[in-house]
Amino acid sequence: MEKIIIFDTTLRDGEQSAGASMSVDDKLLIAKNLDSMRVDIIEAGFPYASEGDFQAVSKISKICKYSTVCGLARANNNDIDSAGKALKQAKKNRIHTFISTSDLHMKYKLKMDRNEVIDSIKKSIKRAAKYTNDIEWSPEDASRTDLDFLYKSIEVAISTGATTINIPDTVGYAVPSEFGELIVNIKKNVINIDKAIISVHCHNDLGLAVSNSLSAIIGGARQVECTINGIGERAGNAALEEIVMCLKTRKDSLPYYSDLDTKKITNISHLVSTITGFSVQPNKAIVGKNAFAHESGIHQDGMLKHTNTYEIMTPESVGLSSSELVLGKHSGRHAFKVKLNELGYDFSENKINLLFKKFKELADKKKQVFEEDLLALADQEQSISKVKYIDLLDISIKCGSNQSSSAYVKLKYLNKTLSTELKGTGPIDAVFKAIKSLIATKAHLVVYQVNAITKGTDAQAEVSVRLEEGGISVLGVGSDIDTIVASGKAYINGLNKLINKKSKAKDSKKILNSSNNSIDKHVI
Ligand code: KIV
Ligand code: ZN
Repeated sequence: MEKIIIFDTTLRDGEQSAGASMSVDDKLLIAKNLDSMRVDIIEAGFPYASEGDFQAVSKISKICKYSTVCGLARANNNDIDSAGKALKQAKKNRIHTFISTSDLHMKYKLKMDRNEVIDSIKKSIKRAAKYTNDIEWSPEDASRTDLDFLYKSIEVAISTGATTINIPDTVGYAVPSEFGELIVNIKKNVINIDKAIISVHCHNDLGLAVSNSLSAIIGGARQVECTINGIGERAGNAALEEIVMCLKTRKDSLPYYSDLDTKKITNISHLVSTITGFSVQPNKAIVGKNAFAHESGIHQDGMLKHTNTYEIMTPESVGLSSSELVLGKHSGRHAFKVKLNELGYDFSENKINLLFKKFKELADKKKQVFEEDLLALADQEQSISKVKYIDLLDISIKCGSNQSSSAYVKLKYLNKTLSTELKGTGPIDAVFKAIKSLIATKAHLVVYQVNAITKGTDAQAEVSVRLEEGGISVLGVGSDIDTIVASGKAYINGLNKLINKKSKAKDSKKILNSSNNSIDKHVI
């Protein structure tokens, strides 16, 4: 059995998903979970892209105990120096530098010829070596690169000091047989390839990212780049949970293993979904709500007789225990704390007290409290804005099939208690209009999404809203057994984050202006 190195890029390529920007605190939280899940390498960001990315990479560098922390850099001194500085405090660090090698990219994007690209590869790797001896190099658009030039670029990268060669299928164009063959050919034709680890980085434009990654492993790749829930640029990247569970479940035909603690998969999937506002499709492999749900009578009957009849892996192996009743309104604080620990959360005593109060309120309203309810409670507590400018005090609505909708909202804003009643096109529109008029915000609602956390008509609603103002985008989340209240909570959570981000942006503007240290990361 050979080890496959798991390189997670949720915080870098994952954040490049349109509409998935994460705050520094959000990234820290995800990194903490990736580290405790024993991901080998965390690509924490693209430090030169923005002050926020730099901060995230340097803060993550300080907290990771197990994982190597990696920063992305294009082939230029500014990018590489910025990555080197951001990674300075990491126990183990890596710089990942890249340049396009396909004729198409070189001609139209880089406007460079082959010799210039080779020169740039040498310079960038030498520059990275000033900061670390763990250097990953990627030929962007590798799967559409002329083979002889690809071999030559890789050879140059290794002889200059690259220790990992990552082969990206940047545009998700490859098919499994051909991508596996590419890795075999790289092994055959690059004379110094034995001095580096081959990695792959597959995009999912044709839905083949995981298949291509597995085919590459069979061909000789020993590192895979992937993201939680498969998020990433365009159609996303290979899903970490699918690759890892494939290796674990099909050892017989794939004699490889990863060091990951797969029991943490469900939690981190939920956390990433809450933070990004990207809900997971119900039939998504491994982490979809239905991934372990047996609906048909024939299947249920088989399962009762022997679970192996229809189950190739256990829900427990990904950290899911069946949706059973876990706690009730008579449960004590100790049991509540133990359950949160079992679910992978490690809150301070103060936070436990706060959450326990919220749990009691929920248990009072809702007879059955499921594990999913606790996950929502905990994840929201983690992602809630630390600074609360607005506090929701009351919401009540009038609506029905024969009357127009109106909402009464009372809230505390900057120590003043304000209230109003307004009409709207439906109750949620009325609530949002009322909040907006009290705060006098120009925030624009871009996404509104509701999810039922569990089954049943008394299920909690989990609402996410994406708000935008002046180029700043935030995600607000809220849950409640009342969908209208959950919506109000999510809207206010978003506004708190927006106000907070706006005030931080004012401070960082000075830094950005002075160093001109900002680029659009979606250009890569
Ligand atoms: O898809 C890609 O080519 C990338 C590179 C930066 C590795 O994300
Ligand atoms: Zn990518």
